[in-house]
Amino acid sequence: MAVTRIDSEELEEQRLFMQRVRAVTHVWDHRPLAYTHSYGCQQNVSDSEKLDGMLEQMGFGFTDSPEKADLVLYNTCAVRENAENRVFGNVGALKALKRRNPDMVIAVCGCMVQQEHIAERMKQRFPYVDLIFGTHVTHKFPEMLYSIYEKRKRVMCIPESDGVVAEGLPVRRTSGFKASVPIMYGCNNFCTYCIVPKVRGRERSREPEAVINEVRSLTESGCKEILLLGQNVNSYGSGTDVSFPELLRRLDALDGEFVISFMTSHPKDCSHELIDVIADSRHISHHLHLPVQSGSDRILKLMNRHYDTERYLGLVDYARERIGDIQLTTDIIVGFPGETREDFDKTLDLMRRVKYDSAFTFIYSRREGTKAAEMDDPVSNEEKGSWFRELLDVQGAIGEKAYEKYVGQTLRVLCEGRGRTDEALLTGKSRQNIIVDFPGNDELIGQFVNVRIAKALPWALKGETVS
Ligand code: 5AD
Ligand code: SF4
Repeated sequence: MAVTRIDSEELEEQRLFMQRVRAVTHVWDHRPLAYTHSYGCQQNVSDSEKLDGMLEQMGFGFTDSPEKADLVLYNTCAVRENAENRVFGNVGALKALKRRNPDMVIAVCGCMVQQEHIAERMKQRFPYVDLIFGTHVTHKFPEMLYSIYEKRKRVMCIPESDGVVAEGLPVRRTSGFKASVPIMYGCNNFCTYCIVPKVRGRERSREPEAVINEVRSLTESGCKEILLLGQNVNSYGSGTDVSFPELLRRLDALDGEFVISFMTSHPKDCSHELIDVIADSRHISHHLHLPVQSGSDRILKLMNRHYDTERYLGLVDYARERIGDIQLTTDIIVGFPGETREDFDKTLDLMRRVKYDSAFTFIYSRREGTKAAEMDDPVSNEEKGSWFRELLDVQGAIGEKAYEKYVGQTLRVLCEGRGRTDEALLTGKSRQNIIVDFPGNDELIGQFVNVRIAKALPWALKGETVS
């Protein structure tokens, strides 16, 4: 399938709209301020960095408080219903603000409003929302915003599309030493529970040169941690001669001290070659996030996952064999339609067998428009809730001991800032992507340091710096 790439002419046009918005706000008695918030996954955070980049070019500053904002922008997530409910609640709460400040522009974009029935509901229920736009027109944000300032009319722009690739948009990154870099967009897998392929379009990869140049320029300007993003990074470049392992090999050849991590890997496409590349690399994180979703082959089939537990466990064993200190994490869905107690027990067995360092666990959420939404779902919410708690207990007991093996070892840690729970400590991440807390002064922030591990907690390690 040919990828629709946004050409430079189209981007030039958007640059003109950025200037026009700038001319509108320039005559105001204050600098325009934006409050932007991103829900959901890292891809959304990355899209928001582009939206913020465009806002910056349009003359906007940023505020943490919607009360002070001239523009509020919510970038939404559709993966589960509770994320959507939160957005409805938060948009509802803006009503009073808009009444006090009718000039404020309220915009809602992203995966949730890419679904027609949700966009329609949003439009009817919240007449004060000025702009609603979908996932395929992010690059047209300046044009849409200008139209609102010029015509003072609501704008809704949610085209159906297989998706586009837009290079060269401005990016506003909040960290000087951490960055995420999308390498592909969309998904072709159609797992039966998942709305993502519907709202994000078909898989399309960025050109390898574009990715390599971006990573090179980031590392040359002092960036030390790069997260490569895609719904299924393992199908990067499918049909070309630069596969994901090859892309990693080329990135690993870049000079400097930095760590490259990536997410998410689909087990069906995760190869021994990929694991070998990680094992032999200088820069690639020893962390594999490999969502298994269920330990029952019957449910995996109903989920359309295209692997069984035997293949999955084979990958886990190979990864552990090649990379002794690999951190393994996963995603699990509890209560998929038709899941029985026997199926669920198989998930518990798999968790005990793999002994994940940590697991992201979710109760199945019915998504309109997916295949699973049409399946019989006889198990009650109460029962699913009790399975879910059981799963947390099992993983909790495993996770508690997972990091003990690091006590006494010295790990190289990228210091990221002050601790979230303890301001007296610095916090950072090891090459295995494990949180490590240690005492030290602010000069270490953004630097690699060696930390001798003294204590293991279920979610972090603690230690002292050593030279
Ligand atoms: N219900 C619950 N969890 C879901 N996920 C995706 N779709 C759903 C859904 N409908 C979970 C999967 C995926 C993670 C990002 O979100 O576990 O790996
Ligand atoms: Fe959703 Fe499956 Fe695609 Fe992941 S791989 S985004 S779970 S359809």
